[in-house]
Amino acid sequence: MKRVAVMTSGGDAPGMNAAIRAVVRTGLQHDVEVYGIRQAYSGLLAGDFELLTSRAVSGILQRGGTILQTARNEEFKTAVGQKKGQRRLNEHNIEGVIVIGGDGSLRGAMALERLGVPVVGIPASIDNDIWGTNTSIGVDTALNTILDSLDRLRDTATSHNRAFLIEVMGRNCGYLALMSGILGGAEIVITPEKPVTMEEVAQALDDAYVRGKSHAIAVIAEGAPFRCTELVDYLNDHKTIGFEMRLTILGHIQRGGSPTAFDRLLATRFGVAAMETLLRGESGCMVGLDGRDVHTVPLADVTTKMREIGDNWFRLAHILSR
Ligand code: ADP
Ligand code: F6P
Repeated sequence: MKRVAVMTSGGDAPGMNAAIRAVVRTGLQHDVEVYGIRQAYSGLLAGDFELLTSRAVSGILQRGGTILQTARNEEFKTAVGQKKGQRRLNEHNIEGVIVIGGDGSLRGAMALERLGVPVVGIPASIDNDIWGTNTSIGVDTALNTILDSLDRLRDTATSHNRAFLIEVMGRNCGYLALMSGILGGAEIVITPEKPVTMEEVAQALDDAYVRGKSHAIAVIAEGAPFRCTELVDYLNDHKTIGFEMRLTILGHIQRGGSPTAFDRLLATRFGVAAMETLLRGESGCMVGLDGRDVHTVPLADVTTKMREIGDNWFRLAHILSR
C-alpha cells in the first residue's frame, strides 16, 4: 500500500489531532503517502484531499478540535453517495482509508468496506457509546472538563444553599452523566439507560436537604427521558425542596480544549495501530482498547452492537450519593 487517506468525522473530540499525527508519522515510517480528507464524507464526495507531510502535523498534538475539520453529510448515507465516494478515492489512487469518528462515522466506514475499500476505524466520540472499546478518544478530556465545571458550580451552590441541575452531553448514552455524577459527588444522575421519575429526582434533593447538606447536585444526560428544562420547572414547583434550584447546560464546552495526557496517549496508540493494521492487510475493523491493550474488532460488530454501561457503575453512584 502506497497511498492512504485519513479523515475525522461526526462530532469532534479532543485527541483527534493526536490520532491524525500518529497515522501520518506511522505511514511515513513505511514510505506511505498519507492524504487528509477535509470535512469528512463531505470532503470525500467533493474530492477535497490534501497531502499531509510530517511538518503538516507538527504542533497539533496538544490542540483540541481537528485540523482536517469535520462534517455531517446526508448524501453519503445513500448508495449513490457511497459509490461516488469510492470513485473519488480511485481518482486519487487511494488504496486504504482510516476513519476517525463516532458510531455514525464508523457506519460510513463500513459502507466503504462493503464496496471493497480497505478501511480501518478509530473510535473518537466524547459520548463513550462505541462498542468494542473500553473508551474512545475524547472521553477523558470531556469528563475532566465537566468535573472542572461541576466543582465550580458546587462552590456557588454551597454559598447560596442551592441545588443545581447540570445537563451534560450524551445523545443516547448516559456515560458522561454517570461518571461525572460519581466523580463530582452528585445526589442523583438521570440517564437514558436507567430512567428515573421527576418525583424521584425531587425526593433525592429533598433527602439531601433533610440530611443537612449545604448544596445538592443532579446530573442529567442530554438523552434522558425528559428535557432538563421540563425537570427544572417541575423541581421549582415542588415546594417541599428546601434548596433553590438553578439549571446549567454545559453544551459544546465539553467538546473543546486540549486533550488530557490519557487522550493524547490513547489517540497516539490508536493512530499507530490503525495504520499498522491497514498495512498488514487487515480491513473492515476498528482499533479499540481492551483492558490496557490495543486490539482490533470487526466493524460489522461495532456498527450493530450497543456498548452498555455495567450495572455496577449505577450501583456505585447510588451508594456514594448518600
Ligand atoms: P458520529 O460519528 O459522531 O456518531 P454522526 O452519527 O452524525 O456522528 O455520523 C457522522 C456522519 O457519518 C454522517 O453525517 C454521515 O455522513 C456518516 N454516516 C452516518 N451513518 C451512516 C450510514 N448508516 N451509512 C453511511 N454513512 C453514515
Ligand atoms: O456525539 C457527540 C455529541 O457531542 C453528542 O453528545 C451530542 O448530542 C452531539 O454530538 C451534538 O452534536 P452537534 O455537533 O450537532 O451539536
